[in-house]
Amino acid sequence: MRRKVIAGNWKMNMLPNEAMAFIEGLAPLVKNTDAEVILCVPYTDLFYSLLTAQETNIKIGAQNMHWEESGAYTGEVSGQMLKSIGVEYVIIGHSERRQYFNETDETVNKKIKAAFANELKPIVCVGETLEQREVGKTEEVITAQTKIALDGLTEEQVENTIIAYEPIWAIGTGKTATAEDANNSIKAIRNEIAKNYGQNIADKVIIQYGGSVKASNAKELFSTSDIDGGLVGGASLKVEEFANIVNYSI
Ligand code: PGA
Repeated sequence: MRRKVIAGNWKMNMLPNEAMAFIEGLAPLVKNTDAEVILCVPYTDLFYSLLTAQETNIKIGAQNMHWEESGAYTGEVSGQMLKSIGVEYVIIGHSERRQYFNETDETVNKKIKAAFANELKPIVCVGETLEQREVGKTEEVITAQTKIALDGLTEEQVENTIIAYEPIWAIGTGKTATAEDANNSIKAIRNEIAKNYGQNIADKVIIQYGGSVKASNAKELFSTSDIDGGLVGGASLKVEEFANIVNYSI
């Protein structure tokens, strides 16, 4: 049985004092969950969040990283830097980074390799645009993104990669894929992994759904056969709402 992994993606929100108050408020509400709870916070919140989350079951992740260890890359943060302060997870290839910061499947692949080299667990985002969906290309797009993202990884690394299927048209729009639709897309991603690395490994990979997940739709989404939790944007900015998503089964 795969575990559920519920990750918040705060995007460019939350000052350190807000982050600390959030984690202090969330910790008692999610302490009994079997799910893995992660908050992916802005760089400036990382250290404060790690300290506040220390005695809790909340894990802390970053939202991006560079693939080089160090060097003349003004404004960038490396995997080595994240690891040095105790970060465990990192989102890679979010559609907002692909769209606004020119990330490609190839840079996503490089970043995933650099994440593993620094013992960080990557949460890798894939997903189709509305245009691609309307011309029936969803499966083609998301399986190609998955294939390139995982290219050259060891079996063990593939097994430890978390994939977040996030249809771009569902992000921040209030529009959610139906549970059946999202589950089918996630099955297609799992089949692609099975094709390249074997069914045994594919069955172990955590694949989340993301795109307007909220407390009111979490149960329906997370009760399907292949959706292993969620990557949650807007609804991860409110303590109660996010706690209710984590505790979706109660
Ligand atoms: P949303 O964002 O939940 O606000 O749609 C999800 C994401 O971008 O990861």
